[in-house]
Amino acid sequence: MTYTTILTEIRRRVGIVTLNRPQAMNAFNSTMLTELFDALEAFDADENIGAMIVTGNEKAFAAGADIKEMAYASPFEMIGQGRVEKWDRIRGIKKVVIAAVSGWALGGGCEFAISCDMIIASESAKFGQPEITIGVIPGAGGTQRLARLLGKNLAMEMVINNRTLTAAEALQFGLANRVVPVDGYLDAAVAFAEEIAARAPLAVRMAKDAVNAAFETTLTEGLKAEKRNFYPLFSTEDQKEGMKAFIEKRKPNWKGR
Ligand code: CAA
Repeated sequence: MTYTTILTEIRRRVGIVTLNRPQAMNAFNSTMLTELFDALEAFDADENIGAMIVTGNEKAFAAGADIKEMAYASPFEMIGQGRVEKWDRIRGIKKVVIAAVSGWALGGGCEFAISCDMIIASESAKFGQPEITIGVIPGAGGTQRLARLLGKNLAMEMVINNRTLTAAEALQFGLANRVVPVDGYLDAAVAFAEEIAARAPLAVRMAKDAVNAAFETTLTEGLKAEKRNFYPLFSTEDQKEGMKAFIEKRKPNWKGR
């Protein structure tokens, strides 16, 4: 596959997508959005890959949707193009996706990062929703995901008052999983992803799905969803192998089935 706005790479069992529009602070134009999801879906279908990373460059993870592409659009053009619906493709990805964020993660860049499963932030990462400063609001999930992740008040402040979170704040408030030095931040994210990629693939997939169910439903329904994912794992070779290996005091050898 030839891409024009992203770079792809595979390191051992980790698929990496690098957003590559540095001249535009990695703003998501339509092409980059399509290419990003095409690449993630291709990695998702590749059994040699166990986890994925999306990253940008040191200065910018992504500065949001491409303002120049939509500045003069009418609502009907925006709706017709499914402008913000396009971002929902992230929800179809079954494997774990990690955002490795350095520098700016603004607008759609922040929204994309928080719609990944986990975030590794470099010390220079900055998360914000500046849409209000250009006369709109987040449209790729920011109002909903930030409210769920951070609670109402801080989400309100970010969305209404353009409050930007530093990497340290993102860690403190539970938006980032780890903060690492800028130097080598991608390697740190790859090491993190490799741990996940080395785990029993079907269990990882069921675990991701079960945690995500918590954001969709009541506790009662969520607990049912967890059970629906728990029991079928006892039909897998990996469950037998994992428990046998524990009893035999050795490392399990996962088959992914
Ligand atoms: N869209 C299009 N172009 C962008 C862009 C964006 N979101 N962000 C940056 N760029 C472009 C700039 O226009 C500039 O291009 P030129 O050299 O052709 O002028 C280039 O990237 C470099 O940017 P700056 O000169 O502004 O760099 P800086 O270091 O001074 O500032 C920044 C960096 C703070 C990230 C600043 O560029 C900025 O504030 N960007 C816009 C952030 C924003 O408002 N994002 C929300 C977008 S709307 C959205 O995302 C909606 C949604 O929910 C989906």
